[in-house]
Amino acid sequence: MEIFRTVSELRRWSRALRAARHIEAGGIGLVPTMGALHAGHASLIRAARARCAQVAVSIFVNPTQFAPNEDYDRYPRSFEADCALAQAEGADAIFAPSVEEMYPPGAAAFVEVAGLSDRLDGASRPGHFRGVATIVTKLLIAAEPDLAFFGQKDAAQVAVLRRMVTDLRLGTEIVVFPIVREQDGLALSSRNAYLSATERIQALTLSRAVRWVEAMAAQGERRAGVLLEAARQIFASEPAVRIDFIALVDWATLEPTEVAAPGTLFAVAAWVGSTRLIDNAILG
Ligand code: PAF
Repeated sequence: MEIFRTVSELRRWSRALRAARHIEAGGIGLVPTMGALHAGHASLIRAARARCAQVAVSIFVNPTQFAPNEDYDRYPRSFEADCALAQAEGADAIFAPSVEEMYPPGAAAFVEVAGLSDRLDGASRPGHFRGVATIVTKLLIAAEPDLAFFGQKDAAQVAVLRRMVTDLRLGTEIVVFPIVREQDGLALSSRNAYLSATERIQALTLSRAVRWVEAMAAQGERRAGVLLEAARQIFASEPAVRIDFIALVDWATLEPTEVAAPGTLFAVAAWVGSTRLIDNAILG
């Protein structure tokens, strides 16, 4: 497995593969990550390995998607373990640039997906999706992948990136994989590492609300008001967990919906102590 630190190294790799026609079957897959890899990332790398001839994993804690009061400095970093996991799952290359490599001094170009970027997580974390859209654009321009793999856990991020790739005609297909959960239902997240033992139990409120709403929708309840109220009741049973948002939205536009039609996104974000967690389901 090769490790690249600069955009030009990654681009040379990708272009050499194309020139040598090594990638005709399946193309190049990119799995963008911020490191601290867990089983959710492993499932993305495995999926990329199954579909693509060559797989690159990017590891970059992107400063522009964190607000000044957020956890950029303490975000978990575990480069050696991440490389071992990526290699075990079959990655061919790691791209781990420095901040200066991705944001040269004086960097002033940003990618904005108007409207979508201000909804759900974007409403609670102003500027977050501008940072995500910017770094993912830079990664896609550098690696020129055929497919890029993202987890459904960041469902609003997926909506923003799909819009961005379509509008900018970037030519990469966005592939989305289901949420990977612990046995008790907690959605895997690098931020779960912040939770104390008590908070770890309280955090299950999110997946409980998601499962409950999914079950109600599966039994035919389609009224958004009723489903949202049911979710609020579940959070009311665990006052230590503070709701950031609970929403039923169209997954493409992130606009609230009155009727939970198949494909509607039910999304929650909540604070457990000082840790903000998210979870969701795409209703069937
Ligand atoms: O989902 C993430 O880990 C990040 O938002 C991403 C897509 C790697 C961009 O930094």
